[in-house]
Amino acid sequence: MLIRIPDVLTADQVKEARAILDAAEWTDGKVTAGHQSAKAKDNMQLPEDSPAARKVGDMILGALGRNSLFLSAALPKTVFPPLFNRYAGGQSFGTHVDNAIRQFPGRPERIRTDLSATLFFAEPDEYDGGELCIEDTYGVQSVKLPAGHMVLYPSTSLHHVTPVTRGARVSSFFWLQSMIRSDEQRTLLFDLDLAIQRIGGELAGNPAADQSTVQLTGVYHNLLRQWAEL
Ligand code: NI
Repeated sequence: MLIRIPDVLTADQVKEARAILDAAEWTDGKVTAGHQSAKAKDNMQLPEDSPAARKVGDMILGALGRNSLFLSAALPKTVFPPLFNRYAGGQSFGTHVDNAIRQFPGRPERIRTDLSATLFFAEPDEYDGGELCIEDTYGVQSVKLPAGHMVLYPSTSLHHVTPVTRGARVSSFFWLQSMIRSDEQRTLLFDLDLAIQRIGGELAGNPAADQSTVQLTGVYHNLLRQWAEL
């Protein structure tokens, strides 16, 4: 499932983050690429231990922890510290798949990458090109979102970033391991959760609807209990 999550960051947070990112020292993006993707990758990146990356990264992690759409869609177990990239002057990232396993910088933990995320920090009219094109089972989805918005998609997907021919595309990208490894199961839980919330919201106070909400909430948690890996 590919899902767009609006307003992960407020306009003020985007402005603050952009000031930090625009003043930071960017380096060649090939450093975090695997062997196969290094050949396809042409962009700039913030070093993982850069103070700017950690400051804005913490802002993103804080916002995600409060975002109910993200929590419901991702059912996150562990989120990798956000990384940052910048494309300008015709830079692009050819078709690749993200590495399956990621080692935390300077720590013994690793994650399995179940979901990949890109959070946009530049408005679409600031640059030409720079679409994130994700191949899913229904065809290629082209994604270019307003600043502060994020796309979440299965890490199993082939994807690429088209050349940025004007301006600069600044974004954060990261991965997470979900409590639900299977995209199919995670999508079922997400759909169920949305339906329960809708019934609970629109039909609250109707005794039959309230009873159904309780029953469906039980089904949701019992599926989660069967499928979750902690
Ligand atoms: Ni990628």
